[in-house]
Amino acid sequence: MTLADRRILLVIGGGIAAYKSLDLIRRLRERGASVRCVLTAGAQRFVTPLAASALSGQRSHTDLFDREDEAEIGHIRLARDADMVVVAPATANLMARMASGAADDLASTVLLATTLPILLAPAMNVRMWQHPATQRNLARLLADGVHVVGPNDGAMAEAEHGPGRLAEPAEIADAVERVLSQNGVMLRSEPRGSRLEAPSAVGAFFETPRAQPGAPQDDAGGLTALPLAGRRMLVTSGPTHEPIDPVRYIANRSSGRQGHAIAAAAAAAGAAVTLVSGPVAIPDPPGVTVVRVESAREMLAAVQATLPAEIAIFAAAVADWRAANEAGQKIKKDDKRRSRGLQLIENPDILATIAHRKEGRPALVVGFAAETENVVEHARAKLARKGCDLIVANDVAPESGVMGGTRNSVHLVTPDGVETWPTLDKEEVARRLVARLADMLDAQRRTGG
Ligand SMILES: Cc1cc2nc3c(=O)[nH]c(=O)nc-3n(C[C@H](O)[C@H](O)[C@H](O)COP(=O)(O)O)c2cc1C
Repeated sequence: MTLADRRILLVIGGGIAAYKSLDLIRRLRERGASVRCVLTAGAQRFVTPLAASALSGQRSHTDLFDREDEAEIGHIRLARDADMVVVAPATANLMARMASGAADDLASTVLLATTLPILLAPAMNVRMWQHPATQRNLARLLADGVHVVGPNDGAMAEAEHGPGRLAEPAEIADAVERVLSQNGVMLRSEPRGSRLEAPSAVGAFFETPRAQPGAPQDDAGGLTALPLAGRRMLVTSGPTHEPIDPVRYIANRSSGRQGHAIAAAAAAAGAAVTLVSGPVAIPDPPGVTVVRVESAREMLAAVQATLPAEIAIFAAAVADWRAANEAGQKIKKDDKRRSRGLQLIENPDILATIAHRKEGRPALVVGFAAETENVVEHARAKLARKGCDLIVANDVAPESGVMGGTRNSVHLVTPDGVETWPTLDKEEVARRLVARLADMLDAQRRTGG
């Protein structure tokens, strides 16, 4: 019983996935937890308090001004008499109310009054999830130390596809276990950037320290912020596809895993992240605005449209060349003239273009160098040639397994020297890199650079 004697307050929001919260009650109880439910008015349109009570074995709560409820167990006791609060499904509306500090019904009042760890399991239409307002609210809530599991990627109602599905009840129960197992650590304040966990994929788990009353104050007298709170970050990721004709293209083996992990780690560190991604087969990282592109030229245009940003990380494997004459129709096998030799021309150099900007250059420009030989030597030359602040150099020789793999061996090359990291999961590389960039940005600020 992994949750033996744990007390969960489950807030059920008014979304179509509310029925899954009933399964969640069952799963939490199977693991030994006791569950008490609060239902919003919206939730009661989808599931009944009676069903929640029957499954939890405890009376469910719905009304802030219920005389009996308030006499028996008031909203402040509800907010205290548990080990953690889970919101599932967390609707867009409930997230907005939480982010703004509203307390206009029992659920939002309890959520504002509690100092317990809070885990949100958002579920909504993909456009609602991707709306800048919801992403702003998510960033605010993460910065407040709320934990988030999901949403997952997949087919949704209204024949749409994308992130927005409620995480599966078992995934939510797993996330509850993780939060509770770290609870002692989580409630203590930690040095900046020391324990950020990077979610690597949609459905992953954001782990951020919950700002607590009494936590250390920053220079401005506010609670200590996440290391990149309020910063704008641009990340490119994945390969580019350079069309030869309408059905063929030039590509490379980049999976996008490293770039996506960096975007996720930066979002978990509080940054507002835009990820410009070439075609990849991995899910969008949660809490990140994703712009999808195909070719190097589209990527450059998207990057330019995204700036300004304080940090720009160019992790995409951009094709150096493209077909000089893209055919409007599929090239036929017997087209001797075209099939004899493919003419290539150079693509724009996105990293150098941005790093050499006179105006609007990001304070930190980071390039990636994928090399198959003389990795550090080539990276040093690239740093100077491209005019960036840092190169993350990695060996992508086939035997290294880096391209398309889950681990990476990198060297950090700056004008000050070279630092070699051990082979790490791409998520860990992302976390360390984000923490390093936050420090570099701080150092630049202090020295007025
Ligand atoms: C059929 C139907 C399904 C809905 N599904 C969702 C949903 O999955 N996620 C969401 O955020 N809102 C959804 N809504 C809108 C919410 O019910 C609405 O914003 C409500 O005010 C949420 O209240 P609450 O957050 O206080 O529970 C849905 C509405 C209807 C009518």
